[in-house]
Amino acid sequence: GGCAPHAPALPTAELHLHIEGTLEPELAFALARRNGVALPYASEDELRAAYSFTDLQSFLNLYYALMDVLRTEEDFAELAHAYLARARAQGVRHAEIFFDPQAHVARGVPIGTVIDGLARALDQAPEAYGITTRLIMCFLRDESAESALATFEAARPWLGRITAVGLDSAEVGNPPSKFREVFERARAAGLKCVAHAGEEGPPGYVWEALDILGVDRIDHGVRCLEDEALVARLVADQVPLTVCPLSNVRLRVYEDLADHPLPAMLAAGLRVCVNSDDPAYFGGYVGDNYTAVRDALGLDPTALRTLARNSFLAAFLDEETRAGYL
Ligand code: ADE
Ligand code: ZN
Repeated sequence: GGCAPHAPALPTAELHLHIEGTLEPELAFALARRNGVALPYASEDELRAAYSFTDLQSFLNLYYALMDVLRTEEDFAELAHAYLARARAQGVRHAEIFFDPQAHVARGVPIGTVIDGLARALDQAPEAYGITTRLIMCFLRDESAESALATFEAARPWLGRITAVGLDSAEVGNPPSKFREVFERARAAGLKCVAHAGEEGPPGYVWEALDILGVDRIDHGVRCLEDEALVARLVADQVPLTVCPLSNVRLRVYEDLADHPLPAMLAAGLRVCVNSDDPAYFGGYVGDNYTAVRDALGLDPTALRTLARNSFLAAFLDEETRAGYL
């Protein structure tokens, strides 16, 4: 007897994806060899065995350490190509891709090397993979507001390649209000704004992202459910929430996928979509996230189609391109 053929993946946009979080152990070791970087792991299996996290910080420690293998424009182009190939196989038609320039500049990699390398791959994405893309430059919230401002200014020559700014890294103790000025500057330059909020941090951080940073979307946002007035606001304005179910379980926001509030968020009328966050570390790409929530939470085909539709509604697309995807 043969296996039943796999159902074709549901076409979706992916709006919450850290390109550095797509660095698979195989590519990490290949780049380490090529660049003469010593990794503190003897093998790919030993590295993978370290992917057992207790919270966001325990993941970030490994995430920042492993990206030390990314040195050249070619490295960043290869990383993006590897993601795009996997993404297409998982149903992705449009990807809005985060990158963390401060994590590279701090290691002596110029911001232009990062952006030019990523852009080289993304330029080929429509033809090579059938995927349209956007780039979102994130500021590390555990670095200073001054560092974010300096990073924004260093990126000015490349702003034509960048659609939005974002905010990521260690959330608790680093509220959105810390970054009011750089978000104002980005908006004045014509960029869209997003921010991680309400992943580990409290609902108050989601309020700040909305009212102080003026974001167009919230990344994660799952803790909004602790604040009825906040849910009402997010529903009234149909603010998109880029939810990452497998990430939330790996980083112990929820103990088990069966405990994930995605069905409650859909029922509340929130504009939620499903994303992979850091798929090389969290056990699955976006199609795997859809399959996992379908199986663990019993989401029916209508709910899955709503999630996919929400992803295109939430994307930074012109209306003609969006209409083609809906
Ligand atoms: N950087 C990469 N993944 C992240 C996440 N899930 N939360 C905050 N910062 C991140
Ligand atoms: Zn994230």
